[in-house]
Amino acid sequence: MRLLITGGAGCLGSNLVEAYLPQGHEILVIDNFATGRREVLPELPGLSLVEGTVVDRQLIDESFARFAPTHVIHSAAAYKDPQDWREDAATNVIGTINVVDAARHAGIKRFVYFQTALCYGRPDRVPIPVDHATRPFTSYGISKTAGEAYVAISDLPWISLRLANVTGPRLAIGPIPTFYKRLKTGQTCFCTDAVRDFLDMSDFLELMSVALHEEVPTGIFNISTGEGHTIAEVFCAVAACLGISPPKTIPVVPPNSDDVPALVLDPSVTHGVLGWQARVGFAEMISRVIRWYDAHGVPTIHSHLQSAAQKP
Ligand SMILES: NC(=O)c1ccc[n+]([C@@H]2O[C@H](COP(=O)([O-])OP(=O)(O)OC[C@H]3O[C@@H](n4cnc5c(N)ncnc54)[C@H](O)[C@@H]3O)[C@@H](O)[C@H]2O)c1
Repeated sequence: MRLLITGGAGCLGSNLVEAYLPQGHEILVIDNFATGRREVLPELPGLSLVEGTVVDRQLIDESFARFAPTHVIHSAAAYKDPQDWREDAATNVIGTINVVDAARHAGIKRFVYFQTALCYGRPDRVPIPVDHATRPFTSYGISKTAGEAYVAISDLPWISLRLANVTGPRLAIGPIPTFYKRLKTGQTCFCTDAVRDFLDMSDFLELMSVALHEEVPTGIFNISTGEGHTIAEVFCAVAACLGISPPKTIPVVPPNSDDVPALVLDPSVTHGVLGWQARVGFAEMISRVIRWYDAHGVPTIHSHLQSAAQKP
């Protein structure tokens, strides 16, 4: 493949670079380092980097024309300031349109989009089936859903993956790095009364090799284990990995107004159509990421939740 990855310096993007570069594929990353880091992309043969924003149409057109990709993974997204609607809309909507348009002119074989489970808003049913209505209510969710809609009306061979919380090297969002950091430094913790689904990076990477295959059906798929876990369960699992006995009771607070109580995606259609199923269980997944933090440290933690900024 000649694989163009937007947002390739981020968590998912850099894990994809690490997986595909040793297989001999040529990779071009476009990233503005809003939440990604340059250091995660070493200077290696076969890997090129363009520093810039997907909002810059000329930069995108020129990068596509020069690199001539056969496959595109559009992973760049803005979310770090929930009040900055313009940045979310610019990157997630206009940026996506720029990447889609350039991909159409390049005549690529496969276009992969990553969608947030927040597209479902406050779901009527959990696990959430893939044909559930989308009704996002945050700037990140709204702009990512608009981006997905533009991908879907294009004539590209596109696939949109609605992802559970993918967990692995360089994970810098959500309860796992937060609990790890606080427990390690003896700080108190609390949990929101929320349920989430988590997916190990190795399962995500296995799914990606299916999704990039030209013969595989296009469309929208939920990518998840289908298993929900409370944030308190996450806390106990992280504490157990660190050898810390959790307090008998941990404060549990209701989710804030910009959060959703339960988000668990139903992967049954994905299993039926793509033949993919997650294999790594919850405890093993937590233990893998904790071992990674032990070896490499926790990156700067970002959040798309307004309330996260106010939490102790
Ligand atoms: N990680 C998950 O579990 C998860 C779940 C659902 C959806 N997603 C989606 O997957 C994608 C990757 O997420 P991630 O967890 O790796 O996040 P991340 O923040 O680690 O990666 C996003 C990357 O995009 C880059 N970026 C942001 N704005 C940009 C712009 N205007 N131009 C170019 N690059 C820009 C950032 O610098 C970063 O490197 C995103 O589209 C996200 O919405 C991720």
